[in-house]
Amino acid sequence: MPLQKKKNKSKEPSRFFKTPKGMHDILPSDQPYWDRIDRTARELADFYNFGRIETPILEFADLFHKTVGEETDIVQKEMYVLKTKGGDILALRPEGTAPVARAYLEHSLGRVSQPQKLFYQGPMFRHENPQAGRYRQFSQIGFEIIGGSNDPIYDTQIILVFHRLLESLKIKNANLKINSIGCRVCRPLYKRQLQAYYKNHEKNLCPDCVWRLKINPLRLLDCKRETCEKIKEKTPNVLDKLCSMCSTHFKTVLEYLDELQVPYTLDNQLVRGLDYYSRTVFEIFAEGPGRELGALPGGGRYDYLMELLGGHLTPAVGGACGIERLIAVMKAQDIKLGAKSSRRVFVAHAGEMAKKKCLKLVEDLRGAGIATSEGLARESLTAQLKIADREGVPIALILGQREIYEERVIIRDLRTGLQETVPLHRIVEEIKRRWRDTQ
Ligand code: HAM
Repeated sequence: MPLQKKKNKSKEPSRFFKTPKGMHDILPSDQPYWDRIDRTARELADFYNFGRIETPILEFADLFHKTVGEETDIVQKEMYVLKTKGGDILALRPEGTAPVARAYLEHSLGRVSQPQKLFYQGPMFRHENPQAGRYRQFSQIGFEIIGGSNDPIYDTQIILVFHRLLESLKIKNANLKINSIGCRVCRPLYKRQLQAYYKNHEKNLCPDCVWRLKINPLRLLDCKRETCEKIKEKTPNVLDKLCSMCSTHFKTVLEYLDELQVPYTLDNQLVRGLDYYSRTVFEIFAEGPGRELGALPGGGRYDYLMELLGGHLTPAVGGACGIERLIAVMKAQDIKLGAKSSRRVFVAHAGEMAKKKCLKLVEDLRGAGIATSEGLARESLTAQLKIADREGVPIALILGQREIYEERVIIRDLRTGLQETVPLHRIVEEIKRRWRDTQ
C-alpha cells in the first residue's frame, strides 16, 4: 500500500540536525536586509549622537528578576537560565535595557557625561511559543538615554529615532501608539481603581487575569482574550488619573511630537509587558500587511530602574525594535532594497583562454574598487549571464578569443542589450565614467 508507506515515511525523524525551535539561520538571501538595517541604525545612532555599547549575552539571572519584574511573562516562563560549574545562575539576556543599566552603574558612566545616549544591537532570547514575529532567538536594536533630567525632550528623541528608522527603511503606515502609566505617586491610586473595577467582573475573567488582578493589575489591560477585551472597554482611563507632574510631562511629549510632525494615536490601554516602566510608554506598529507580527519598536521611560539595581534615582527612557520583525514587514510591504547591484559589474568569458584572462580582470577591477561578480566556473556564456541576471547586475564585461587577440573587452548593458567594445586598459576608466554619468 503506497499510501501507508508514505505516511510512515513522514513520521521518520529527520536524518539531519535542525535549528532549535524558534531559532533560525540567516541565509545569504536575507543578509542584504540585515546589512541595510544595520547600516541605517548605525547612521541614525551617529547622527543623533548615541554611543554604541555591547554587553555580554549572559548576565546574572537576578538582574532580570529585579528589573523586568518577578511577575512578568519573561521572568516567570521565558528565561533561559543555566547554572555554571562555579555555581553562578546566569540567564541568556531576554532584553537589553537591564544589561545597559547594569553597565551604566558598573562603569559609572553617569560621571563621564549626562545624559548617556546609548545604542546597541544584538541577539536576545525568550522561551516563547514561536509564531509569526515571535521567536526564541531574535535581535534587537535599542536606543537608551540615561541620566541628566527627566525632560520630555528625551522621550521625544527616543520616539523620533525609531520613527526615523522606520521611515529610512521605507516602512509604510507606521502607527505610533502612546500612553502614560504615571509615576510612584499616581500609579498606586490608579491600580486600586482598576482592581475595584475588575473585582466586579472577576467571574468573567480568564484564569491569567484572575491572577493578574491580585498580583499585577496593570497587566489586566494587556489581555487579548475575547471575554477580557469586552471588560477592558469600560476600564477607568489612566490618563484621567495622572498626577499633575505626569500629566504635564505627557502633554509636553505630545506637543514635541506635534512640533516634529510625528503622528501618534493615544492608547490609554497600552501598558507594556515589562515592569520597569513609568510615565511614557509607546509602541509602533505597521498597519496593513505585517500588522499581525506585533509591535516593531516598543519602549518607554524607566526612571526607577537604577534604584532597583542599587543606584541613585536616575531618569531614563529608551526603546528597542526587533530586527526580524522589521525584515518580515519589509517583505510583507514588498520593499525593494535595490541600489546594491546597480554599482556592480559582471565578468563573463567565452572559451578557456578567455577564462584565464577574466580571472586576472576580476582582480584588477577589485583592486580599482569596482564591485565585481562572476560565474567563471560555468562554461557557457548563457549560463554565466543568467547568474548576472539573477543578481541584478546591470553591466557585463565579456571576453572571448577575439577580444583577447585585440586586447579589447565587450561592455554589454544587460538591461538594453546594447554593447560596445573598449580597449582593455581603459575598462576601469570607462566603468567609472558610466557611473558618473548615471549619478
Ligand atoms: P519588548 O517590547 O519586550 O521591550 O521588545 C521590544 C521589541 O523587540 C518588540 O517590539 C519586538 O519588535 C521585539 N521582540 C520582542 N520579543 C520578540 C520575539 N519573541 N521575537 C521577535 N521579536 C521580538 C524590550 O525588550 C525593552 N527592553 C525595550 C526598551 C528599551 N524599553 C526601554 N528601553
